[in-house]
Amino acid sequence: MTTRRHFIQATAGAALAAQAASAQRTISPNDNVQIALIGVGGMGSGDVEASLKVGGTKLVAVSDVYDGRLTHAKERWGADVFTSRHFEEVLARPDVDAVIIATPDHWHDRVSIAAMNAGKDVYCEKPMVQRLAFGPPVIEAQKKTGRIMQVGSQRVSSIVYKKAQDLLRQGVIGEFNMVEAWWDRNSAIGAWQYSIPPDASTDTIDWERFQGRAPHHDYDSKRVFRWRNYQDYGTGVAGDLFVHLFSGMHFVIGSMGPTRVYATGGTRFWKDGRDVPDLMLALCDYPKTESHPAFNLALRVNFEDGSSENQGFRFIGSEGIMTIGNGVTVSRTPREAEPGYTIDTFANATQKEFLKDYREKYPEQRPSADAMRPDDDEKFLPPPGYSDHLDHHKNFIQAVRTRKPVIEDPTFGFRAAGPALLANLSYFEQKECKWDPVGMKQV
Ligand SMILES: NC(=O)c1ccc[n+]([C@@H]2O[C@H](COP(=O)([O-])OP(=O)(O)OC[C@H]3O[C@@H](n4cnc5c(N)ncnc54)[C@H](O)[C@@H]3O)[C@@H](O)[C@H]2O)c1
Repeated sequence: MTTRRHFIQATAGAALAAQAASAQRTISPNDNVQIALIGVGGMGSGDVEASLKVGGTKLVAVSDVYDGRLTHAKERWGADVFTSRHFEEVLARPDVDAVIIATPDHWHDRVSIAAMNAGKDVYCEKPMVQRLAFGPPVIEAQKKTGRIMQVGSQRVSSIVYKKAQDLLRQGVIGEFNMVEAWWDRNSAIGAWQYSIPPDASTDTIDWERFQGRAPHHDYDSKRVFRWRNYQDYGTGVAGDLFVHLFSGMHFVIGSMGPTRVYATGGTRFWKDGRDVPDLMLALCDYPKTESHPAFNLALRVNFEDGSSENQGFRFIGSEGIMTIGNGVTVSRTPREAEPGYTIDTFANATQKEFLKDYREKYPEQRPSADAMRPDDDEKFLPPPGYSDHLDHHKNFIQAVRTRKPVIEDPTFGFRAAGPALLANLSYFEQKECKWDPVGMKQV
């Protein structure tokens, strides 16, 4: 339900933003790229730090619906940072060149579209959208406005994933036939039990704005600070974590996505009122394309695995296995020179006849030195302290300055978010879902 107050705010905001679009700054090489942050929580704050580390950037404005985070933005980045509960006021500022959007998922599309219409470049956190229907309008807005838009799945900027891409292209594991990807956790914070500030109330939080177009509920601080636990605002483990696995994998293999998704799971441990699963498994079919063979993908997130958090990928091929974790590891076992036989239950004469034929086909020979392989796995590690997150922000700021394309545009972002959202649909509706990865729509 849209309240009258909302309508007035939204209309005023749109008008302000439209004025700003015509007054867009030209950034000369010596100028800072002036950034703003919308959604000053954990990731948004990390995004600002990464963006400032890129250099040649300056934070000028922030918006959040919780006053405490606006106060802390000034404590952390300076009293001159403009703050507002209303992101439209940030978008209307001519001194803002680019915005980082790190709100809960249900606001991503709306704020991204408003920002691009206001003439701002956008770095929007993953998943690009909360619902399948919200994807195409973001892609259209980016095309129509010509603004730069980077989606925040930093793995696609990672040298680790680039190395994996190179190794795969060199054929180190032969033709891959399956990929396993997982992200297991074993902690309350890992399971999204984030801290709730003692001053949280409807005085300090704009609850109506937080909810936006989500179904309306009475104020509940858990919904604000632990929004991932609710389908109304988040996208479950699929949108939170599968999406990183999709984006990383699509980058490594050059894929547009699967054609079929089936997911199952349950809320097994964290029975804290959440309405999303804490354990989820998904199976996806990828058809053969110009860049990869047909293969199957198995995804897993388990928020109570009884061990330590770990995440990774295994690309399984005819000649070996490539694992991505901290770095990339290739394990290969020499292929057998001959298939062997199981003849000892046959009659003696039959065994003899079999062996004669077999040895004609596979003459006994000393293996050549080429059959020798290193015993250890081959490992490639990034330099200590390497940050793909910083690289992803560098890629964005460079694109803002040069107007050259980013590494993760909305089409790539939606091709990663789409199958993750389909996994949710499959889980909640208990059915398999079909997807057109080229047209980016459910079929
Ligand atoms: N790329 C990554 O590795 C990564 C990691 C963590 C989170 N994320 C993504 O970043 C986003 C934020 O996650 P988080 O963990 O920082 O959540 P968070 O709850 O810490 O922060 C979200 C902030 O947005 C504010 N907010 C809510 N509605 C708003 C609105 N209408 N206008 C302005 N502010 C609003 C909230 O008050 C809160 O401060 C999510 O989409 C999440 O998926 C990405």
